[in-house]
Amino acid sequence: MIVVKSSRGGTLKVEGFRVRVVERISLPSVWARLKAIKGAGWNTFLLRSDDVFLDMLTDSGVNAMTDRQLASMITAQDAYAGGRSYYELVEAVRDVFGMDYVLPVHQGRAAEHLLAKVLIKPGMAVITNYHFTTSKAHVELAGGEMIEIPVPEALNTISDYPFKGNIDVGKLEELLSKMKGRVAYVRVEAVANLLGGQPVSMKNIRLVKELCDKYAVPLVLDASMVDWNAYFIKEREPGYASKSLAEIVREMAGYADILYMSARKAPAVRGGLIATNNREFYEKLVVLLPVYEGFPSYGGMSVKELAAMAIGLREMVDESLVGSELELIRYVVEELDRNKIPVVKPPGGLGVHLDALRFLEHLPRSSYPAASLAGALYLVSGVRAMERGTMSMDRAKDGREVYADLELIRIAFPRRTYTKSHAEYLVDRILWLYENRDVIKGLKWVYEPPVLRFFLGRLEDVDRWGDELAQIHVKQLGEY
Ligand SMILES: Cc1ncc(COP(=O)(O)O)c(C=O)c1O
Repeated sequence: MIVVKSSRGGTLKVEGFRVRVVERISLPSVWARLKAIKGAGWNTFLLRSDDVFLDMLTDSGVNAMTDRQLASMITAQDAYAGGRSYYELVEAVRDVFGMDYVLPVHQGRAAEHLLAKVLIKPGMAVITNYHFTTSKAHVELAGGEMIEIPVPEALNTISDYPFKGNIDVGKLEELLSKMKGRVAYVRVEAVANLLGGQPVSMKNIRLVKELCDKYAVPLVLDASMVDWNAYFIKEREPGYASKSLAEIVREMAGYADILYMSARKAPAVRGGLIATNNREFYEKLVVLLPVYEGFPSYGGMSVKELAAMAIGLREMVDESLVGSELELIRYVVEELDRNKIPVVKPPGGLGVHLDALRFLEHLPRSSYPAASLAGALYLVSGVRAMERGTMSMDRAKDGREVYADLELIRIAFPRRTYTKSHAEYLVDRILWLYENRDVIKGLKWVYEPPVLRFFLGRLEDVDRWGDELAQIHVKQLGEY
């Protein structure tokens, strides 16, 4: 964003870009939405995009690319081995992160898979600020355990603590000293996805790195959303207001022994990477690339995406291009909070997160309040959000339900994609849904997959509350 002084006091933040390509979207009627959500088993992942008005499921792979990125896809060099686009990527990683060894992979979870294979032995643990679904799955598939130690404020959705993504350093020291030889690595997720998109402070990363060095444990940085984390450090952390995003990202990366990312996020392409300055880690990882991903100069990615990733990495620290979606998120969170809607505060990255436990206080956790809320929001607005609660957890080995710490729905704002009027529409429909929340009676399973069940699972609405909500919508708001 370009920040200027307003003539009426305060500051104005203005997008440092304009939109030159648009995609037409349409708003289906509430009856069409009811049919679609039933057909999708009340799982927003299973909706067809053409049935969705505002697709706010995720920022992954759906960010608006820049003209320079699109142009680079045409000039990308098609080569199985040693292509020019790969070397452009290596240079970008060196400039942006200060790391010499680069491994492209097809997406973030591929990086997690390879790291788990190389660093985790059965019985070992990974300590993290908070898990992400795929990162946890790969640690567990490798026979390890993920231990989460966020600061206590992280699980309090009404706390305004500015860095809820921080690791509890006291607990980290305790664990590292108790578990000598059993910690594979410490993982810091920059903008903790499942905590409501909350950032980590530079001070916290620095302290974590000091402890990692003391106990000789590598620090792995999940940098998928490092652009947003840097924006918040600049805005909220003393001493960083005058630093550039590039300087902040470089400093963050400087504390990591290994950095990985889903390039579907900050660099706005479809791919991923691992980077390090440690030759030993690199050599262990690179031999796995041809087995699982592809030759090391493309790593399972299309070379077109590889070329665009090199540009996207540089652009994710360009002040003019970063942050417009964060300002929309801030607007929606403040509007909802002013209207007493239970929303995660402070405004974070990634999206607006509604607290389903407080939104649907009448529902027991066994009826999946977050999944119910995501389904209901789609029904009343055509907005596709994502459940980030108990449905996103898998059952324990003995079949017991594992309740998530937080029951959230995430309404993602992909980078540079939606406008202020979209945000206003979203607020309007959430306010209406809150007034009619008593109609929602929860969901029950029809088909429950054993792993990462939230992706493909199907459910149905208890007592067909969806039909009732659609009827009230038509009566009060019409068919749209
Ligand atoms: C923080 C974080 N890490 C890893 C991943 C996995 O990346 P991918 O979806 O590219 O496999 C994601 C995906 O959303 C993520 O948010």
